[in-house]
Amino acid sequence: MTAIATLGSHCALQVLKGAKDEGFKTILICEKKREKLYRRFPFIDELIIVDYFKEVLDEKCQSILQQNNAVLIPHGTLIAQMSSEEIESIKTPIFGNKWILRWESDRGMKEKLMIEAKLPIPAPVLNPKDIKKLVIVKRQGAAGGKGYFMAASEEDYNTKRNQLISDGIISKDESLYIQEYAAGVLAYLQFFYSPLKGELEFFGVDQRHESDIEGLARIPSEQQLKSDKVPSFNVIGNSPLVLRESLLEEVYNMGENFVEAAKKMVAPGMNGPFCIEGVYDENAKFTSFEFSARIVAGSNIYMDGSPYYTLLFNEPMSMGKRIAREIKLAVESNQLDKITT
Ligand SMILES: Nc1ncnc2c1ncn2[C@@H]1O[C@H](COP(=O)(O)OP(=O)(O)O)[C@@H](O)[C@H]1O
Ligand SMILES: [Mg+2]
Repeated sequence: MTAIATLGSHCALQVLKGAKDEGFKTILICEKKREKLYRRFPFIDELIIVDYFKEVLDEKCQSILQQNNAVLIPHGTLIAQMSSEEIESIKTPIFGNKWILRWESDRGMKEKLMIEAKLPIPAPVLNPKDIKKLVIVKRQGAAGGKGYFMAASEEDYNTKRNQLISDGIISKDESLYIQEYAAGVLAYLQFFYSPLKGELEFFGVDQRHESDIEGLARIPSEQQLKSDKVPSFNVIGNSPLVLRESLLEEVYNMGENFVEAAKKMVAPGMNGPFCIEGVYDENAKFTSFEFSARIVAGSNIYMDGSPYYTLLFNEPMSMGKRIAREIKLAVESNQLDKITT
């Protein structure tokens, strides 16, 4: 008997509901403060209560997971709260490829993999002195957009960086990543690659609602000019998007190129869910500013199935359920080692 486990945040509800529907025992590693929330959901069989998520690294937590033959589903919270070394040290089998999570967290490595995948990326700016056009400045890891800012010149960069440092939002010796700002319609393309079938599936698209950059657009420019607040890109929620059908061919190509590149650069490759994030410009040309190498919270909008999965499955299929289905197939055919690391 195999169990499916995850951390109580991000997309845990969707993941565990999907796992339950596929017949697995479900385990949630849950912070004390959120116990009441998660007890509301009857499809969660067992809660491991912790003070901090980092306790998943402790012997106690790992032995409970081991006794249950658990597979751990990684998501954004795991990456945001633990270092790559810590994630790699987890003994519980992790769904997908835990080694690729380091490539997601480190902006330099991320850029390298995206270039290898031939994704059209915004030009990186190595030195604030070289800021000639509008750029976005980001922190490492999945910081969730907090402390990111835009700048149009070196001076602008310094002013905003200093302000964020004095507000305690970023630290003085933090290494920041600068890239050109790409304007257009944001699209977060969600995929699933099945190593069992050797096939790429396109799941769906979401849009992120980020505060307070989004709120800024609702304020007349006169007031915007008077404000000296540095707007952030903190994700609040997601909404669905479907693409013009003529864009789908390129979407699949990008997904396939990414899977190819990951196979080459970081064994065993991009297994399971992932997301290519970017912008379509006025000529419907896509520029990708980053990827996530695991399930994204934007898949929560399709808990009952997505438009594109409706075309592939004759049943409601969420990303959480798709993951559980892959694990089920692997267990039945004795190939769990092929889909976990
Ligand atoms: N080059 C870019 N051009 C325009 N917007 C961008 C660019 N890079 C990031 N963004 C915006 O900032 C947000 C957060 O950046 P992202 O690289 O996705 O970091 P994170 O790892 O925190 O999700 C994006 O969702 C998007 O709204
Ligand atoms: Mg992102």
